[in-house]
Amino acid sequence: MNASTSLSVDETLRSALAGLLDGLPARQAAGAVERLIANYRGATPTEAPILRDRADVAAYAAYRMPATFEAVRSALEAFADAVPGWVPGGHVDVGGGTGAAAWAVSATWDGERPVAVLDWAEPALALGRELAAANPALRAARWQRSRIGTALTIESTDLVTVSYVLNELTAPDRAALVDAAARAAQAVVIVEPGTPDGYTRVIEARDRLLSAGFHVAAPCPHSAACPIAPGTDWCHFSARVSRSSLHRQVKGGSLAYEDEKFSYVAATRVPVAPAPARIVRKPQIRKGQVLLDLCEKDPSLRRTTVTKRHGDLYRAARDTDWGSSWPPATEA
Ligand SMILES: C[S@@+](CC[C@H](N)C(=O)[O-])C[C@H]1O[C@@H](n2cnc3c(N)ncnc32)[C@H](O)[C@@H]1O
Repeated sequence: MNASTSLSVDETLRSALAGLLDGLPARQAAGAVERLIANYRGATPTEAPILRDRADVAAYAAYRMPATFEAVRSALEAFADAVPGWVPGGHVDVGGGTGAAAWAVSATWDGERPVAVLDWAEPALALGRELAAANPALRAARWQRSRIGTALTIESTDLVTVSYVLNELTAPDRAALVDAAARAAQAVVIVEPGTPDGYTRVIEARDRLLSAGFHVAAPCPHSAACPIAPGTDWCHFSARVSRSSLHRQVKGGSLAYEDEKFSYVAATRVPVAPAPARIVRKPQIRKGQVLLDLCEKDPSLRRTTVTKRHGDLYRAARDTDWGSSWPPATEA
């Protein structure tokens, strides 16, 4: 991982996205986003692509790509921490649309690798290819039309990502996609919206990956069953995304950022060193103490209180974040 590289990938994506809306009247872009959001709420799974033409895709990419990029990047960073030294030699992004996950992979691991982005929506692939011209790691990427279904096969690669896609599929197609990913790759990273339904789909996918012989690398510190009793809660995380002027127009308000909630699983066949425990809620900072909700290896959920008398650990607790591993590496 390289923080300065990821910052520059982020900035490059932002500037490529800003360029997309040049010449598109602001009201028209906001209108397209609103229509697509309504469509996404009402009609899943769909029989045909929702993203129909360039204007749809440009507006949707400008609106959603920064958030999906940040969510996938957070998941990949947690995954990379659990497989130190492992670098994907190839990447396939299934249902990749305009390539947010391909950008996130290039922000997580330096260097170039063969990349293929598969999707059934040609306008999304075309726009993804156009945006990728700004990112040296993606200039040679293949943007390939492909329909996810029970006949899906994925070429052999090191890493398969599936971000914000399971939501759009029928149950048999979700199962076929996860099984095809497990056959194709050493590592599979699946990201879904951070909702109870998104979490349920992630758990289904996690179970299939474990049955295929994978280990969970993140977010769970273990590969046992999730300790959350079904229906009582859902495991999710949050990534901070700075808002563009298009966001402010669609959503109103003047906040400079918003928090993208997501659920994910990163699983692999290579040896893993998962976090000792993971912080699964926003830490609560009180006077002289920090409350941390942890998922632990046993597996169990536990709240721990770190107080001033814990010294360095207390300072680390004040600085830590939802989604981080605990205790921090230097304290372990
Ligand atoms: C919400 S978008 C997510 C795009 C991208 N993965 C991201 O994170 O920004 C869902 C994508 O899945 C694609 N998709 C949905 N159903 C599909 C299917 N049956 N076959 C191939 N692609 C599909 C859509 O065209 C769309 O690009």
